Amino acid sequence: MQSKSLFAFFSALALSSASPLRRRCSNSTVPTPTNSTTTPPAATVPVLPTTGSGTQLAGADGATLKHILVGHGIQNYTCTAADVTATSIGALAVLWEITDLYPGVSSSSLSAADFDTFTSKVLRTTSMPLNMATDSTTGADVAAPFPAPVDLTVDGLSAPIKFLGHHFFDSANTPTFDLSGADDGELFKGKKDANIAAPADADKGEDPITGAVDWLRLSDKGTSTGVSLVYRVWTAGGNPETCTDAGESQSIPYTAQYWIFSA
Ligand SMILES: *[C@@H]1O[C@H](CO)[C@@H](O)[C@H](O)[C@H]1NC(C)=O
Ligand SMILES: *[C@@H]1O[C@H](CO)[C@@H](O)[C@H](O)[C@H]1NC(C)=O
Ligand SMILES: *[C@@H]1O[C@H](CO)[C@@H](O)[C@H](O)[C@H]1NC(C)=O
Repeated sequence: MQSKSLFAFFSALALSSASPLRRRCSNSTVPTPTNSTTTPPAATVPVLPTTGSGTQLAGADGATLKHILVGHGIQNYTCTAADVTATSIGALAVLWEITDLYPGVSSSSLSAADFDTFTSKVLRTTSMPLNMATDSTTGADVAAPFPAPVDLTVDGLSAPIKFLGHHFFDSANTPTFDLSGADDGELFKGKKDANIAAPADADKGEDPITGAVDWLRLSDKGTSTGVSLVYRVWTAGGNPETCTDAGESQSIPYTAQYWIFSA
């Protein structure tokens, strides 16, 4: 009965010392006041996607995620002979920031399903963002492939996504990401560490329907600024057509997510 006498003691104390307003709180059935400061939910940390089966790309080794981008452009190929698989000679793409669309990170976050198929949506519902050749050749206007930077409006998003830069292969055939739209002017010159096939249900492209290019892990070739690692994931389209002639060029529309990390 010790608790009962303690209760009596505290009740008496409350009655004798508390203000009238305070006295009402001495009724022990009144619920404990809830904490009025709202605790923010634990921050969601984006997780690098996997293809769902088979060998996966190596992880980011503790590197820090800086951006998730969507890229839209072309994969370029050349042919050595008829009936062979075309050889990749690089790519050209415009890049926009979609970090805030990752599920659970912001008020503009997409559902997981919409985020994972966002590249397919961009491929199918937005225009090719490059200056294309106007003569009889295929592909981009090689002298000036990129139009002036512009944010991209995508159906269903409350705001345009921010232009962040360009992806191209430089004169030494090095995959390059020039993130001129980032505050600190990041520049990545990469080398391919590994590639794995896109998931079987990836968007195979629409004109032509050739399949989604591989997922990739690219590490710093040594001269990058502010970026140490780039992954290409959630690819849509971009694979070559079978060659019809030696010397033939191909430029195949594609989109991909690029995950940009710094050491
Ligand atoms: C506390 O208040 C409730 C209703 O407000 C009342 O039913 C109950 O008897 C009170 N308890 C005590 C210990 O005063
Ligand atoms: C009330 O919220 C603050 C801020 O989140 C927290 O530090 C404190 O521990 C909370 N107190 C209780 C009783 O939950
Ligand atoms: C194909 O891509 C390469 C690498 O970025 C680029 O240098 C070249 O101009 C492109 N060619 C065409 C025709 O788009």
